[in-house]
Amino acid sequence: MSFPITRLRRLRKSPAIRNMVRETIVNRDDLIMPYFVCPGEGVQNPIKSMPGNYQWSVDLLVKEVKELYASTGIDKILLFGIPEQKDEDGSVACRHDAIVPRAVKALKEAVPEVMIVADVCNCEYTTHGHCGTIVDGDVNNDITLKTLSAQSVTLAEAGADIIAPSDMMDGRVGAIRRVLDESGFENTPIMAYSAKYASAFYGPFRDAAESAPQFGDRSTYQMDPANTDEALREVQEDINEGADMVMVKPALSYLDVINRVKSSFNMPVVAYNVSGEFSMVKAAAQNGWIDEQRIIKEILTSIKRAGADVIITYHAKEFVLNNE
Ligand code: PBG
Repeated sequence: MSFPITRLRRLRKSPAIRNMVRETIVNRDDLIMPYFVCPGEGVQNPIKSMPGNYQWSVDLLVKEVKELYASTGIDKILLFGIPEQKDEDGSVACRHDAIVPRAVKALKEAVPEVMIVADVCNCEYTTHGHCGTIVDGDVNNDITLKTLSAQSVTLAEAGADIIAPSDMMDGRVGAIRRVLDESGFENTPIMAYSAKYASAFYGPFRDAAESAPQFGDRSTYQMDPANTDEALREVQEDINEGADMVMVKPALSYLDVINRVKSSFNMPVVAYNVSGEFSMVKAAAQNGWIDEQRIIKEILTSIKRAGADVIITYHAKEFVLNNE
């Protein structure tokens, strides 16, 4: 009798057998591609720290999303806005002619097949760059719920398919659910950024969205990277308040959190592979230090393997172009 009896290498012998027993496969349908929309016409402004990403004016964003859908079949996008003007409480985002509602209307007319997730937060719209209204030097929770609610209704009215609050105020999911229901949007799902950490991995995004806080940081409302029990409490709370999907953000340094959330709740779990995670891959690839496409596939596979059902990633388009 030969030794060893168990030879795990038997199932690794050829591509055919490896493909047959593979446990985790990332599909186009798992992916959401984020975009940044800005004022003007004919604008495609490169975001330096996020190669291949741009601030798009509405007209060119429509073209790009049409092309995305035609070339990859990706039919889910996430929108962020860069407004023409900011104010103290972000109420510029609650106007029907605000930048994201305008983009949503144009996209829904041109490519109705593509589902639009609208990020809801004030940080892109406030002069100070915090996610809500400042009272006595800190973001006031309950006042901020009002602007978040109004922004959500405006986005739903414009035609957004999913509302995704990313501000980390307590009670925002319940508050938003209530106003959506009262406004006739009881069938619009909420994708809650439930376990969102105060992370240095958001750095490049803040260049892209021009949303860096002008004083202090976000650690009085976003989570401490050291905590996971607290992540489960955040998720539980959002589920109780009516969230349809829950998110963990960032993804790569938080695979354990993704795994705990997925195994604790019977809910679709979304993971956000954030800007800093993306930009580190791009920087290393530009230096020729890594095999970029293999790394991207490994990263997305790991996030799904950890328990994510859906992945928001700036790699979505290139991943599908290189793999399907
Ligand atoms: C808005 C928001 C942020 C991100 C998504 N929504 C920035 C932040 O919280 O500072 C980060 C996304 C990324 O880094 O890719 N609050």
